Amino acid sequence: MAPRKIIIDTDPGQDDAVAILLALASPVELDVIGITCVAGNVPLHLTTLNARKVCELAGRPDISIFAGCDRPLGRDLVTAEHVHGKTGLDGPTLPEPRMTLQAQHAIDFLIETLRVEPPGTVTICPLGPLTNIAMAFEKAPDIISRVQEIVLMGGAYFEVGNITPAAEFNIFVDPQAAHIVFRSGVPLTVVPLDVTHKALVTKARNDAFRALGTPVGIAVAQMTDFFERFDKEKYGSPGAPLHDPCVTAFLLAPHLFSGRFINVEIETHSELTMGMTVADWWRVTSRPPNTLFLNQIDADGFFDLLTERLAKL
Ligand code: BDR
Ligand code: CA
Repeated sequence: MAPRKIIIDTDPGQDDAVAILLALASPVELDVIGITCVAGNVPLHLTTLNARKVCELAGRPDISIFAGCDRPLGRDLVTAEHVHGKTGLDGPTLPEPRMTLQAQHAIDFLIETLRVEPPGTVTICPLGPLTNIAMAFEKAPDIISRVQEIVLMGGAYFEVGNITPAAEFNIFVDPQAAHIVFRSGVPLTVVPLDVTHKALVTKARNDAFRALGTPVGIAVAQMTDFFERFDKEKYGSPGAPLHDPCVTAFLLAPHLFSGRFINVEIETHSELTMGMTVADWWRVTSRPPNTLFLNQIDADGFFDLLTERLAKL
């Protein structure tokens, strides 16, 4: 079977970087036809730089990388240097990339690709704020029905918020964009904090990355070394949650995950709960289901898969 075509929309971010590496390490299953960058963890000029560094680390300077939106729809950009460091990719020292960005805007790439590829053959994997995807849907509504599926990292229900008491970072940064995507009707799978807070990089798991002894294994270990100091302090957990790679892993091994098909709406009005994913987990409303909302992960299976695939790069 031909590999599944995916577009990764991202704001790297150490965990975004690992998600990209996992996809590039899995060419039998996944064909990364483009990476679109968005402002999120750090401003756009850094997310586009980091995406190129990561592709070169993977030995894939041939991947097309596009710059997208540098701010959310109608709100100021909120960034997360307190988690990811000043560069967004603090930890390893990676060389300045030689590959260049594509001239086309990420939104136009998304639109053109979805119009050219046969309907239902391109999956979008958002790992950051949903600005690029929402803008593409607003500009070209004809592409919405052509998307095979969206599998995204964002939101939370039982874990509630990590950037405010009520909201997860990716959704909080651009709630209006999230509202557009969740209401779009595209088949949607959501990997929320409820899952990613179970995918913790313990010392043994990080040692396994480092023990690969390859530039990729060592860089991933250094990234998670940096990333984990924040979460260990904040949650008192034994390691950092590896959020975004759960999206790639879901595409590769959906049996490692489970959840419920439910209605999820995005709060876009209340400042107090802005960006909250209001998930009808207990099905107490008659609102129609629009999301496969995951809540469980086989964390050992996930880390085994990740380590085994990273070894291939
Ligand atoms: C999400 O926010 C970012 O900091 C991470 O890269 C991840 O996509 C987790 O809330
Ligand atoms: Ca991210």
